Amino acid sequence: MPAERFIEALNEQIAAEFAASHQYVAIAVHYEDQTYPRLANFFYRQAIEEREHAMMMIKYLLDTQSPVRLREVEAPRSDFADHVAPIELALEQEGAVSRRIGDIFALAREEGDYLSEQFVQWFLKEQVEEEATMSTLLDVAERTRDFPMSLEDYIAREDPGEEVADPLAPEPAGGR
Ligand code: FEO
Repeated sequence: MPAERFIEALNEQIAAEFAASHQYVAIAVHYEDQTYPRLANFFYRQAIEEREHAMMMIKYLLDTQSPVRLREVEAPRSDFADHVAPIELALEQEGAVSRRIGDIFALAREEGDYLSEQFVQWFLKEQVEEEATMSTLLDVAERTRDFPMSLEDYIAREDPGEEVADPLAPEPAGGR
């Protein structure tokens, strides 16, 4: 079994992943309400991905006979000044998640827990992709701030954040 402080940190991260998912649903609903269907779909999809990250972590705890401690998830933000603000929030959120994943990786390394270190490694790579996707989306959103439908066209054309099957992705609890 991993060290208690690693288990506790991973349980905290599970809550953070569910919170990220919850926040992305709130953003998607905001966009759908404002009739930005491509932005809405993009964030609905991101919400599913974040939930899957939480389920992967749950599966790892179960597989290593570690306790799963689900906790409260905070209410998401749902009031935004304009169509760019949710993307700014999303990029901030991804940056915070990357820092936390880095801390959890460091914990596993300090404990000499090679299996946990290897498990967390996939999430480090995932965060690089997610931050890059969100940062690119924010660039385009800022550049087209006065023409939001250009951002919709960009998403329709480029399909940012498109998921390709990753055979190295950890298995989520409950399967895919
Ligand atoms: Fe699973 Fe992008 O945090």
